[in-house]
Amino acid sequence: MTTWTIDGGTPLIGSARLSGAKNSITKLLMLSMLTGDPCIFTNVPEVGDSQITLDLCRALGAHYARLAPHQLQIQTRQVKSSEVPYELATRNRLAVMTIPALLHRTGRAIVPAAAGGDKIGPRPVDFHLEGYQRMGARVDIHDGVYDVRADKLRGADLLLPYPSVTTTENLLMGAVLAKGRTFIHNAAIEPEVIDLVMCLQKMGAIIDYNTDRTYVIEGVESLTGVAHEVLPDRIVAASLACAAVATQGDVLVMGARQADMVTFLNTIRRVGGRFEVHKEGIRFFYDQPLCSIAIETNVHPGFMTDWQAPFVVLMTQAKGMSVVHETVFENRFGYVSELQKMGADIALYDSCLGGSACRFHFSNYRHSCVIKGPTPLHGADMAVPDLRAGFTYLIAAILAKGRSTIHNVEQIERGYEGLKNTLISLGARIQEGI
Ligand code: EPU
Repeated sequence: MTTWTIDGGTPLIGSARLSGAKNSITKLLMLSMLTGDPCIFTNVPEVGDSQITLDLCRALGAHYARLAPHQLQIQTRQVKSSEVPYELATRNRLAVMTIPALLHRTGRAIVPAAAGGDKIGPRPVDFHLEGYQRMGARVDIHDGVYDVRADKLRGADLLLPYPSVTTTENLLMGAVLAKGRTFIHNAAIEPEVIDLVMCLQKMGAIIDYNTDRTYVIEGVESLTGVAHEVLPDRIVAASLACAAVATQGDVLVMGARQADMVTFLNTIRRVGGRFEVHKEGIRFFYDQPLCSIAIETNVHPGFMTDWQAPFVVLMTQAKGMSVVHETVFENRFGYVSELQKMGADIALYDSCLGGSACRFHFSNYRHSCVIKGPTPLHGADMAVPDLRAGFTYLIAAILAKGRSTIHNVEQIERGYEGLKNTLISLGARIQEGI
């Protein structure tokens, strides 16, 4: 377990290069296994989840080589097993994304049901499995595995109960090589999903998408290799933005793209945070007291659930009462108790505050919060529960008075490249160990 000690009270000032998106490269690597040809990816984030996915692909028969920093080639001439090893399936939540490649290449996918990853809600995979069933696969659940079989998937009319990101990506990858036409209605349209569609199109897929969240996929016989650049990580960009404004600093996030962050930028502006869009990235800075707001998280183009935790710590520094309603994951306020220990005034509620009733309306999940600010924060001893919450603790520790210790930092490094050096270069006082 890695521990960092942080002496707070310093504004973050300077510039930071944005990495490629973790939630994109992990799917692109899975996608590479749909073909026997080599695939080359650039702007690859050097984060824990990239390596976990590479290990998984290698266990199934992929060979990869790093061609240069942030650039790799991967090729799966032959899939050597239909079964995802248990140990690899428990390291994050992506094992289910091997189903399309394993089915197309071997006719069978055996995926352990015990997924790892962040504990931010039950996170079932029923939409994925139902989609494959509707495309003609037989799905059995036995001995702790999902056992999916299909000699050839066939096109189907699929309606997702919710626009789930990985379900959409998974079924797109399944449908591109299915026989006939597949419709995916109520699908996710996050920039990372559209980017996956772009990559599939370069490989030979035929995918149309409409403004009503529908993809129409015409199955093709095979896909070719591809060269593709991973899009910048808009979650890391927003995390750095919140850190810059919350610490009353000034950070140029190089590589951040306005088009992927429109809702975030509007929200930052509404609370009094400042930004400027430049050719090389977006500069986020503080120059006036922040004010409160009511927001709810939502699927794209709404306010991303992954922006929520860093934004809540920002709101502890805003004057007045802010409301945040989390509508994507049931249990994404696990980090709040630590912020309360640091002096934040945050109360959690199981009702849907500040907006319309969401899917969790009749549950006991505490999925809304009220933040009263501004409150000074003081240092604390914290253990990171999940990736995004972890970054939130870092922001809190950097803006707090006094010393904080943060344990289990490797959880954060799963998704943030070169984190310690980036933060130190911006002025944070961090040292490894206690
Ligand atoms: N859902 C189901 N059944 C399913 C699939 C999803 O009920 O079969 C529900 C989920 O439980 C959740 C909602 O649908 O309540 C949305 O989940 P979604 O499938 O969209 O999330 P995900 O694909 O599991 C990805 C990212 C998350 C990000 C969300 C939302 C990856 C690997 N993960 O998760 O990223 O928060 O989309 O944008 O792409 C992170 O990076 O820290 C992270 C958690």
